[in-house]
This record gives sequence, structure tokens and C-alpha cells, in this order.
Amino acid sequence: MQATNKPLRLWTDLTLFDGVRIHAQPMAVVVEGERIAWVGPMSALSSAHQASAERVRAGGVMTPGLIDCHTHLVFGGDRADEFAQRLEGVSYADIAANGGGILSTVKATCAASEDDLCASAQGRLNALMADGVTTIEIKSGYGLTVNDELKMLRVARRLAEQNPVHIRTTLLGAHALPPEYVGQADAYVDLICNEMIPRAAAEGLADAVDVFCEGIGFSITQCERVFQAAQQHGLPVKAHAEQLSNLGGSALAARYQALSADHIEWLDEAGVEAMAKAGTVATLLPGAFFTLRDTRVPPIDLLRQYGVPIAVATDGNPGSSPIFQLTLMLNMACTLFRLTPLEALQGVTKHAARALGMADHAGLITAGQTADFCLWNMRSPLELASTVQPGRLQQRVFSGVPTHG
Ligand code: NIG
Ligand code: FE
Repeated sequence: MQATNKPLRLWTDLTLFDGVRIHAQPMAVVVEGERIAWVGPMSALSSAHQASAERVRAGGVMTPGLIDCHTHLVFGGDRADEFAQRLEGVSYADIAANGGGILSTVKATCAASEDDLCASAQGRLNALMADGVTTIEIKSGYGLTVNDELKMLRVARRLAEQNPVHIRTTLLGAHALPPEYVGQADAYVDLICNEMIPRAAAEGLADAVDVFCEGIGFSITQCERVFQAAQQHGLPVKAHAEQLSNLGGSALAARYQALSADHIEWLDEAGVEAMAKAGTVATLLPGAFFTLRDTRVPPIDLLRQYGVPIAVATDGNPGSSPIFQLTLMLNMACTLFRLTPLEALQGVTKHAARALGMADHAGLITAGQTADFCLWNMRSPLELASTVQPGRLQQRVFSGVPTHG
């Protein structure tokens, strides 16, 4: 063992889900500073580690820190009225067509200051962190002007500075057409390509660029222009695609080596094949499916057959998925989409990391990884999916430092 001045910490007698599998034997994890130094069965734990490391905890279920790879956490206002309208039978698309939906959140978000947005997002972020989340993606998309989109991204960056959580930001200028551009969608796409993306890239505010490829969003041609601009600025792309219809957005995204295509209820086999070839992650959003009372289920068997990595996320937003509990999504991905509990767990760890371009440094408990993990009060990690029960997080460790419990 090398001499080091970083603290060594030891967790023993663990039931471990490491992001890929659940280990049958009791396991131990040694952390050096902010990194995992060693993971292995208790029987192989060295006497040197036993002697020199501070024992933090013995026993419990350990998983990687959970990753919520698709959220719209920063927004102004609320959409409780729209929830009531939908219960009375008005559709999500009709609400959007009447200027509500995303556009009502755009109004409230544009009116809010950075401080307001930060304060309201903080409560939702607290809920996610208390649910074991250590990495979260936050999209813009409720600004729809250059200044308001950048404002949202700055808020997301500020949340990262102020909280023990890794945040990846995504520019989603192509979320909805602002009312002042009705009839001139291409001119709005020009604004995204010529101003929003270059500014976000130059100011280091975006880690990726997303689009809403849909009849009520943007066409394939428009999304492709956004992807080209993103590529020119060295930013990876993602897509909200095949949520309400099949426009081929996922296959387009795959052609641009997208990190992920998300929703994908209407995805067809050609799209699945394109994603498999490109290594694009399929991100399932069961909270939106549930909230909108959708009936069309994503093509899970095809995704398995072609070996497409499957992630699971909250899509936390004020309209289509006002749900800020990632462990509930584990349960919903199983009950609504028939993922296995193990697939669901991989979907909020290893595969979610990949959906954020963090495959090499998040979502796994292996030597060399950042020490982001959670200890849970339960007997098996599979209970995270089988049972919906807040309050089971015993300890949350972020970059080697216990931040909860
Ligand atoms: O992921 N599909 C488009 N965008 C969001 C909805 C956001 C909203 O309704 O405010 C989604 O579901
Ligand atoms: Fe979304």
C-alpha cells in the first residue's frame, strides 16, 4: 500500500450492488480521499486496510449514488391548474396548442430572477438528494430567449456550486416555439443555432444540447440543424423523441452519436437498430408516461434484443412529470414497462452515467471511481425497485464525504 496523506475510510459487511450486479458475498469498500481505492469480498480485505482505515459503517445495502439523467428541475411557477384540466379530459397536446403547458412555465420562468429560480429548484434538489441522487442533469428550455435560456443554465451551475451533487447542464432551446415566432419556426431555430448554442458554449454553461422532436415541438429538419450547430461547438446531443408520435427523432439523434434518446414510447425497430449501432442510450421516463396516462409502452424487448443500454429518469418538470423521486421511477419502470428490478437499478446508475457522457466516472462502485454511493436500510438492493418507501437512505457519500446520515 502506498503512503498517502488522504484519509482512508472503510465500509464493511455490505450487500453491494456495484452498478452492474449484486454481489453474493459480503463486501468491503475502501475509499481514499474522494476516490474508491478498493472493492472486494470481506474475505479478501487486507490487514493493512483494516489497520489503517477509519471504519465508517458495517452492514447495510450499498449502491452507487443514483443518477437522474433527465430533469427540468429549474422552472418558475407551477401547473396545478393544468393537472386539473387533464383530469377533466383535456389532452397534454391540446393544452400546449392553447398556449398552456410548456409555454405557461416559460412565462413564469422568464419573469423569475436567478435567485427565485435557484430557491425554488433547491427544494426539489433537496428531495432528490434525500432519495440518494448524487448526479443530476438539468435542462433549460423554459426561457426560449437567449438571455432566459442562459439564465436557467447559470442557475443550474449555481446549484452545483452550492450543493454536494454533480450537475450536468443541457441547453434545450428547442423545447417549444415562443409565441413571438409563431409561423417562423425556422427563424427561431436560427436563433438557437446562431446565438444560443454559441453563447452557451463560449460561456461554458452547457454540457449538451437537447431538442423536442415532435409535432408540438420541432421537425426532423429543424432538430438536425440544432444538432449540427451543437456539433460545430463540440457539444454532444440528446433528444426528446418518439414521445407522442414516431417522427424518427431517435434515429436522427443516433446519426449524430447522441448520448441518449428519451421517452421513446413510439420508437420502431429501425430506430432501435440505429441507437444500438451508435451506442445511444434509451432513457425511459415512466413518470411522464404515468402522468399523461399514456398507453403505448416503449419497445423494451427490442431494446434488449439489440443491446441498447436502458436508463431510467424522473423527467422531473412542472407539467408532464411533476415527480421528484427517482426511486419511485425504479418501481414504475418495472410495473409500467416491465423492466426487471436489476435493469431498473442499472438504469439509474451505470446506464444513466452513460446517458450523461460520464460512463467512465460515475454510476459504478469500482476501484478508481469517484466515491459517490449510498447506504440503504433494507435487505436487498432490489427493494429499491420493489418497495416505494421514502426515508430508507442511511448515508449518502459524495466524493468520499458523507453528506447525509
Ligand atoms: O420531457 N416532452 C417535452 N418536454 C418535457 C415536458 C415539459 C413540460 O411539460 O413542461 C418532457 O416531458
Ligand atoms: Fe423532458
